Amino acid sequence: MRDKEVVIPRIRGKARLVVLVSGSGTNLQAIINAVDKGSLRAEIKAVVADRKCYAVERALKRGIPAYIVERGALSRESHEREILKIIRLADPHLIVLAGYMLLLSKSFVKKFRYKIINIHPALLPAFPGTHGYEDAWEYGVKVSGCTVHFVDEEMDHGPIIIQKPLLVREDDTLESFKKRGLRNEHIAFPKAIKMFIEGRLVIKGRRVAITGKAGR
Ligand code: GRF
Repeated sequence: MRDKEVVIPRIRGKARLVVLVSGSGTNLQAIINAVDKGSLRAEIKAVVADRKCYAVERALKRGIPAYIVERGALSRESHEREILKIIRLADPHLIVLAGYMLLLSKSFVKKFRYKIINIHPALLPAFPGTHGYEDAWEYGVKVSGCTVHFVDEEMDHGPIIIQKPLLVREDDTLESFKKRGLRNEHIAFPKAIKMFIEGRLVIKGRRVAITGKAGR
């Protein structure tokens, strides 16, 4: 059977984003900065964290409603149900996973097909999982990078929107490699979000075609 084409429509006016986080929130900051600069025609309606983390402080500092929904003793379903309440209120065009460390359930993903994107700190399908930088470094790769992809039911697996490579330098340490890697992510992620908002993505099976020209 041939894959059906899915065209992501251009969003009129400001795109509503919900950003899910678990960590220091440097990617969230890159998105906030892109919004503030006017290069992303979007509004971050809510930031949701599954734990106390610096990302929440970044959101609050910028006046973005931020919520901590700890998993604690909750089942995955009940935890996601709480998060869903916030998401439904925000009614986002796009859910952005910016260092969110929990795996979303299949039913959650199904509700938001092609409306969730994630950034992974390696060139998928290499080094999936939670330690992209460390695993790539340990393996001794000469080139790594990051991947922004749609989220599907499998971990670090959905159709790829952007991959931005990064060369490993002879004098790199894991720390310097990670540091440059994060800076690389901060360029790729807003760029992919912008393409989504501008309706430039067409998905056919695993392949995401990028159409048209970038807006200002
Ligand atoms: C990033 O490396 C991201 O690719 C990974 O988790 C890290 C999050 O960093 N999924 P930050 O919280 O955005 O600083």
